[in-house]
Amino acid sequence: MLTDAHHPQLIDQFGRVVDYIRLSITDRCDFRCIYCMSEDMSFLPRDEVLSLEECSRLVKAFVSLGVSKVRITGGEPLVRKNVLSLLEDISNLPGLKELVMTTNGSQLEHFAEPLKKAGVRRLNISLDSLDAERFRKITRVGDLGKVLRGLAAAKQAGFERIRLNTVLMRGVNDDEALSMLRFAIDQGIDISYIEEMPLGEVDHSRGSTYVSNETTLKLLGKHYQLISSMESSGGPARYWRVPHTQTRVGFISPHSHNFCESCNRVRITCKGELFLCLGQEDKIDLMPLLRNHPNDDQPLINAILGSMRTKPKGHDFDLRRNAPAVIRFMSQTGG
Ligand code: 5AD
Ligand code: SF4
Repeated sequence: MLTDAHHPQLIDQFGRVVDYIRLSITDRCDFRCIYCMSEDMSFLPRDEVLSLEECSRLVKAFVSLGVSKVRITGGEPLVRKNVLSLLEDISNLPGLKELVMTTNGSQLEHFAEPLKKAGVRRLNISLDSLDAERFRKITRVGDLGKVLRGLAAAKQAGFERIRLNTVLMRGVNDDEALSMLRFAIDQGIDISYIEEMPLGEVDHSRGSTYVSNETTLKLLGKHYQLISSMESSGGPARYWRVPHTQTRVGFISPHSHNFCESCNRVRITCKGELFLCLGQEDKIDLMPLLRNHPNDDQPLINAILGSMRTKPKGHDFDLRRNAPAVIRFMSQTGG
C-alpha cells in the first residue's frame, strides 16, 4: 500500500484526525505515587512487554499513516534500558514533527542532555510538591532533591519547553497550588494542573481527594492575572498565560467531556494494546500482529486503519461511582 507521511490517514467515524500517539514503553516506575499505583504493585514480565525494536516498528507504522507527534510515557520511561536508541530511531522518522516525553524527573540529572541529543524536543515533568517530606509521601519513595536537580539539568540542556504536571489532591497538596505556580514562573517554565482520574484501584477513595480545576483557577486568579489562551493541544487542556512571564498555565480536566470532540490521539500500552480512548475499555492488541508477522507490516497497518472505526465518541468518568471507571492504571496506559 502507498502511504504518504504528510497526509493524515487516520480519520475516525466522527471525522477526527489522529495525528498524535502516546506510547508507554514500560509499566515500571521508580516511584509509587499514591494516585497512580497501589503500594504492592506488580509489573509485567519482560516477554509480555514490547521490545524496543517492536516499539520502533510500531511507531514507524503510525508515522507512515500521518502521525506527526509522539509522546513517550511509562510508568517511568527512563527506567527502560537503552531508551535512547529507541528515541533516536523515532526522531529520525520522516514525517515526524515532534517527539516529546513525560517523566518523573528522577533520572533527568543524567538523562537531560542525551535526551535532547536523541531528538526529544519537550519534556513534561511530574511534580506534585515542593516540600521534600510531602513529596516523599505522595511518591512513597521519591527524592525531591533529585527531581529538582533533574529539572535544572533539563533547563541547561535547552529543551524547547518544559512543563510541570501537578496532580492536586484535597488535603494532600492542594495548599501548594499557588506556590507551584510561583515556582514555575521563577523557573521560566509551564505548569499544568491535572485533576485526579479514576484509573485503577488505589488506597484512597478518589472522590474524597478531588480538587476541581475551577477551584484552582479561581485561587490562582486572585494572585495573578491569567489571560485565556486560544492554544489547543487537541486534548483535555485549556491554557492561560501569565503576562510578563514565560509561563503558561494549563488545566487538564479529564472529567469534562468538552474536549472529546477535538480528540486527536490514541494510546498504546507497553503490551502493545491500542486504546482508542483513555476513558474506555475498547482496545486492539497489536503485539500478535508484530510477533506473528515479523517481516510484514501490512497486517499491522490494516489493524491500525481499521481501529479508526471503533474510536469512541467520548469517555465517561464519574467520581460518584466507587469503582474505578477504568480498571487499568495510568502507568499501564501511559499518561
Ligand atoms: N489521575 C491523574 N493524573 C495521573 N497521573 C498518573 N495517574 C494519574 C491519575 N490517576 C499523572 C502523573 C503524570 C502524568 C503522566 O499522569 O502525575 O504527571
Ligand atoms: Fe510513576 Fe508517574 Fe505513576 Fe508516579 S504517576 S508512580 S511517577 S508512573
